Amino acid sequence: MAGPVGVGIIGAGNISDQYLTNLTTFPDVRVLAVGDVIEERARAQAEKYGVPRAGGVDVVLDDPEIDIVVNLTIPAVHVEVSEAIIAAGKHVWTEKPIGVSREESRRLLEKADAAGLRVGVAPDTVLGPGVQTAKRAIARGDIGRPLFAQTTFQWSGPEIFHPNPAFLYAKGAGPLLDMGPYYVSALVHVFGPVASVAALGLQGTPTRRVQVGELAGQEFPVEIPSTLSVLMDFEGGGQAQSVYSTDSPVIRQGIVEITGTEGTIVIPDPNTFGGAITITRPLRRLFIPPEPVEQEVVDVAQEGVLSGRGVGLLDMARSIAAGRPHVATGEFGFHVLDTLLSIEEAAESRSFVTVESTLDQVGAIDAAFDPFERTL
Ligand SMILES: NC(=O)c1ccc[n+]([C@@H]2O[C@H](COP(=O)([O-])OP(=O)(O)OC[C@H]3O[C@@H](n4cnc5c(N)ncnc54)[C@H](O)[C@@H]3O)[C@@H](O)[C@H]2O)c1
Repeated sequence: MAGPVGVGIIGAGNISDQYLTNLTTFPDVRVLAVGDVIEERARAQAEKYGVPRAGGVDVVLDDPEIDIVVNLTIPAVHVEVSEAIIAAGKHVWTEKPIGVSREESRRLLEKADAAGLRVGVAPDTVLGPGVQTAKRAIARGDIGRPLFAQTTFQWSGPEIFHPNPAFLYAKGAGPLLDMGPYYVSALVHVFGPVASVAALGLQGTPTRRVQVGELAGQEFPVEIPSTLSVLMDFEGGGQAQSVYSTDSPVIRQGIVEITGTEGTIVIPDPNTFGGAITITRPLRRLFIPPEPVEQEVVDVAQEGVLSGRGVGLLDMARSIAAGRPHVATGEFGFHVLDTLLSIEEAAESRSFVTVESTLDQVGAIDAAFDPFERTL
């Protein structure tokens, strides 16, 4: 590859606006085509963002100037679409999760390997300045030796805004598979691969009702645990406890707190690219009332250039050109999926489940990484 990399997009739905907004501003990328089974959707998005070609999926797959294809379809067809991209001789960046089963996801990675092509997997939020700055702080010992993490994602559920929310409570979705990729990816960046998990799950109610739009009032079944309490044990030491719930009127989400021997670091919501990072140090002496308790809380300056969805693809494009591994690898995405499926199995069996996959390495984004710089 010489010069900006040619990129195509398959799937012109909800999230495609964020990708198109960002990818069309990165000088190392040229977005050349948008495709969708609903061709008018692809044409409308191409027109909105000044992309030259649009239509069905083949408009993207047959384009000789496209080297990387972004898969923004729904999870149930992620692997089918990614395999078609590999068969067309192009690298894949896919939205999360990599697939819905271990078998199909493993098969995709094997096909990509055999073809000498790369797979990159969202979320790339965790490659943003927020999680990556915290990761550097932890690596240089700012909280001592990391011991344990707590993460929280709880609210009352997406039917308050979504006009057709039943699929979000069906098998393959729920708070764990939809939101878990953000939290598990952030934890794997800090602690490394997961060794085993335990979980308990419950259903707040066996059915729910659509709250907005034309279907408002319609009842639909809840097929998955809508609340999960999860324990995770990491191969290299460290533990985490997480809550994923759509049964809670109190909204607490985006919470990731990591405690080490010397302090607790609070990192930004892993579904965002950046935000405030603080470290709370242990109290050094006992405060006796009415003396005010002043815990030492220090801000950690966020390093790096803030952008948005698409930055993982950009890292992959630059890594291909440089002949080095990219950060959000297919193996990483597979390990996250394997962990999430293991959590589901643990909740069903009410026991610990060993996570079979592992990772040889977890990459990092350099603080000097600038999406808006021309490097190719
Ligand atoms: N919406 C969000 O806020 C959001 C945020 C982060 C990640 N994601 C992820 O992005 C992906 C897409 O989500 P979305 O909300 O944009 O969904 P969506 O339903 O709005 O869009 C999906 C698009 O893919 C198209 N499509 C479906 N099957 C196809 C196929 N076989 N070939 C070609 N096109 C096909 C659909 O016609 C549709 O236009 C999901 O994996 C989701 O987890 C979404």
